[in-house]
Amino acid sequence: MAKGSTNKAKVLVVDDEARIREIVSRRLTEAGYQCTTASDGSSALKKLKTKPIDLVLLDINMPGKSGVEVLKEIKGKYSDTAIIMVTAIAEVETAINAMKLGAYDYIIKPVDHKILLISADRALEKRRLILENKAYQLHLEEKVKEQTEKIRQSFLSSITSLARALEAKDAYTSGHSERVTKIAVAIAEEMNMPEDRIEKIRIAGLLHDIGKIGVMESVLSKPDKLTNEEFEHVKSHCEIGQRILSPIIEDEEILDIVVHHHERYDGTGYPHRLSAEQISPGAKIMAVAEAYDVVLSQSAKILAVADAYDAMTSKRPYRPAMSHKAACAELEKGKGTQFDPAVVDALLQTIAKLRKL
Ligand SMILES: [Fe+2]
Repeated sequence: MAKGSTNKAKVLVVDDEARIREIVSRRLTEAGYQCTTASDGSSALKKLKTKPIDLVLLDINMPGKSGVEVLKEIKGKYSDTAIIMVTAIAEVETAINAMKLGAYDYIIKPVDHKILLISADRALEKRRLILENKAYQLHLEEKVKEQTEKIRQSFLSSITSLARALEAKDAYTSGHSERVTKIAVAIAEEMNMPEDRIEKIRIAGLLHDIGKIGVMESVLSKPDKLTNEEFEHVKSHCEIGQRILSPIIEDEEILDIVVHHHERYDGTGYPHRLSAEQISPGAKIMAVAEAYDVVLSQSAKILAVADAYDAMTSKRPYRPAMSHKAACAELEKGKGTQFDPAVVDALLQTIAKLRKL
């Protein structure tokens, strides 16, 4: 008996002949196994249901369910249980077939006690190795998941710090990127976007204004109306952001959101004057839609709405913060011109839900 593998292993002996059940289970008990018995397939399955069994010694020829039928059921429901078929010499072919169905071995009646113990021991050892391997695989998967999440968290913390560092330049935009991210993620969830795309919106939300690093502070915090020249300078933050991020972020969709977060639904935004028209259904237009880099993506449209809502409800050097109600009215007004109507509806819906909570 291999140390540790069969110690107190639980064995179920299934045979319709009481004498065989008694002899086999006595031998196994003497060898250190915990034995129970069953006289037919149905009662064996009942026993398996109530307590875990490591090894089943299964007679092939029984009244009621045959050994092979019981084997199939055990393999289906309790795949971790090892099975050895016990057979008369005339049923050897059936026993070999049973091994194809998942039995570990077969023993021929009359049972030789030495062979019985060797076979039981090997079956349990093999089962132990399989279980160990399964546990190792599971552990490995968990470890990989854990590490991936740690890397993700660390990346999100780094880019949050980057966004905060940018916002430290200007007290008026403090917390803007994190708020925009929360709003954009809530809209995307409301619109049932898949989790992998929501994650991209999360990253892009934190980084969307990073290009403002390249905009003069005097312009960013100017209390008066910007001149045309100054406004052109501010506009450059979208493409500067894309250029800053492209060496560290490979994902095209994230870069696309960053560069297009000031595009408008009607195609009068910046920097590329992209229009939602380009992604409306239609053969000619679909060809444009396939060229991803000239299309105003759903994610960019979401970020544009989230950005506008937060900008309106935040204080600026040249105006006070707008109320939630007034900002919602502005979004409604901008449906179909500045904003995608479906995205505005999703924001209004999700905000209404949040407020109820
Ligand atoms: Fe911006």
